[in-house]
Amino acid sequence: MELGKLEILADRLLAKIRKRPGHEYNPVSLAKSIKANKDEIFSAVTILKRLGYSIKTDHNKKLVFVSAPDRLFEEEILHRLKTKMIGRKVYAYQSVQSTNTIAHQLALSKTPEGTIVVAEKQTKGRGRMGRQWHSPEKIGIYLSIVLYPGIDPKRAPGLSLISAVALAETIKALSIKDVRIKWPNDVLIGGKKTAGILTELSAEIGRTHHVVIGIGVNVNQRASDIPEDLKDKATSLRIAQRKAVSRIDFLKEFLVRFENEYNRFKKSGLRGIRKKILAYSSLLGKEIEVQSGSGKIAGKALDIDNEGHLIIETDKGKVTLSAGEVTLH
Ligand code: BTN
Repeated sequence: MELGKLEILADRLLAKIRKRPGHEYNPVSLAKSIKANKDEIFSAVTILKRLGYSIKTDHNKKLVFVSAPDRLFEEEILHRLKTKMIGRKVYAYQSVQSTNTIAHQLALSKTPEGTIVVAEKQTKGRGRMGRQWHSPEKIGIYLSIVLYPGIDPKRAPGLSLISAVALAETIKALSIKDVRIKWPNDVLIGGKKTAGILTELSAEIGRTHHVVIGIGVNVNQRASDIPEDLKDKATSLRIAQRKAVSRIDFLKEFLVRFENEYNRFKKSGLRGIRKKILAYSSLLGKEIEVQSGSGKIAGKALDIDNEGHLIIETDKGKVTLSAGEVTLH
């Protein structure tokens, strides 16, 4: 059997045996039920094992599905995904330059809203302010979501904030303490960055064509995986949790939370989520300095409004900012 056909068979076999983990399947009956022969079943098992699936084949040659690998495969993302729109179409790669670049290309060819692009590794991961996003293989989540929210581009910063809240809540659900959002795009644990959001738009004045939300999460990095120059600024879920975290479970949980917040945002903007944004914010009441398009502004962070703008009190009065890079004084 050709490799392509064998892979399709492997998918069918996996779909069947994962329904009952621990159950002993008879390969002859399995072969019948998925229209293959016994040898093909065992070739398919070899393919699945190579991908990291744990399948026991005992001395009677009975097949037992044990577990799936923590890999960002399309099959794993779609398996029991509880969303209606976000992540229903998946492009999963081993290595790409940047998932955001691919997501923009897909948006231009009118991929359905909610399409996601994930990769195990990025060679040119983009961060905000032209920085690079360190994207080591198989220990982080590198995700881009394609949206067509049809909003005025002025409201787009709200999309970063709803993503930040969805991330913060997903992290908190792991029982990790001291999770904060550093306006406008960072998620911190114990004051150190664990996730970043890069929201990119294709827009004209007054109208957004498409939005790509790029999200990078440090998941299973150990302290030794964090680059030397970031050691006092960055952390990971694994470091906070003191044990490995399932990237696939985290991703799926995040997609559900993101979808809920996105639907709410389309109906009523940030009104419904503002309380959470404020509760998670690491800046309010603090003396800060913001580097934005219009230069450096120093003052006290007072509020985040319904547009997602940060309001700071400076010695010249109140200033409202829609984006910027914040440093704490
Ligand atoms: C930041 O904090 O500076 C934002 C980082 C965003 C990184 C993610 S990883 C997936 C997506 N693809 C990219 O090239 N960047 C974003």
